[in-house]
Amino acid sequence: MNETTKKESATMSSTENVLRASHVAKTYDEGGLRTDVLSDVSFTLKRGETMAIVGASGSGKSTLLHIIGGLDTLTAGEVEVDGRILSKLSDAERGRVRNRSLGFIYQFHHLLPEFTALENVCMPLLIRGTAITEAEREASVLLERVGLGGRMQHKPSELSGGERQRCAVARALVTKPACVLGDEPTGNLDEGNAAQVYALMLELNREVGTSFILVTHDTRLAARMDRTLVLHNGVLQESPKH
Ligand SMILES: Nc1ncnc2c1ncn2[C@@H]1O[C@H](COP(=O)(O)OP(=O)(O)O)[C@@H](O)[C@H]1O
Ligand SMILES: [Mg+2]
Repeated sequence: MNETTKKESATMSSTENVLRASHVAKTYDEGGLRTDVLSDVSFTLKRGETMAIVGASGSGKSTLLHIIGGLDTLTAGEVEVDGRILSKLSDAERGRVRNRSLGFIYQFHHLLPEFTALENVCMPLLIRGTAITEAEREASVLLERVGLGGRMQHKPSELSGGERQRCAVARALVTKPACVLGDEPTGNLDEGNAAQVYALMLELNREVGTSFILVTHDTRLAARMDRTLVLHNGVLQESPKH
């Protein structure tokens, strides 16, 4: 990342908290079947902070990330992203906040199979209206940065698992979002590749100042983040650092 990028992210927004969840509750109610998933989730995430969310399978980690990311609605409470309360926005405004302030990385890369690595990384910029030459320039910088400078014209099927996830990291960061949300972003990789992708995300966190919330099963990877929060019985609790 060059000096201009650092300066841009430093002046992007003066809001100290990138994310704030306040008494978030979520109940799925489908066909008379009620599932209380989240009962009372509150936390704040500062600009540049990294946070791991851990918890048993089915504890609601993905549900929580979807709500924070504006992909699912909450039953009660409030989520604020970069100073905007999601539930008070129209669908179009919420879409803009997602595109402007958040980046997403999933367990499976979710790259578009018909497009090259370069085109995939360009996509979030094109969606926000960046001209194609500028988008390609910025996407190339990011792809170089994640070690895929020699793979820009490859399609996802022509990349290894680790390379695909590094491409997904580049796509999540190309818009210089305030926060990246990752749902088991290395869950599909072997230990070596998982450690490499984590190291890369933490380097980018330090260089660009992007906050990260990563859901993971791996307590060793979680320990590399600034904070670890545990989701249990619908409540999120800070786990003390040793
Ligand atoms: N769309 C849905 N409708 C009903 N129940 C759901 C839905 N999505 C998730 N759940 C339930 O919510 C709980 C939490 O799921 P999830 O957030 O995926 O957990 P985790 O990511 O921690 O494994 C599970 O019991 C799951 O069955
Ligand atoms: Mg999940």
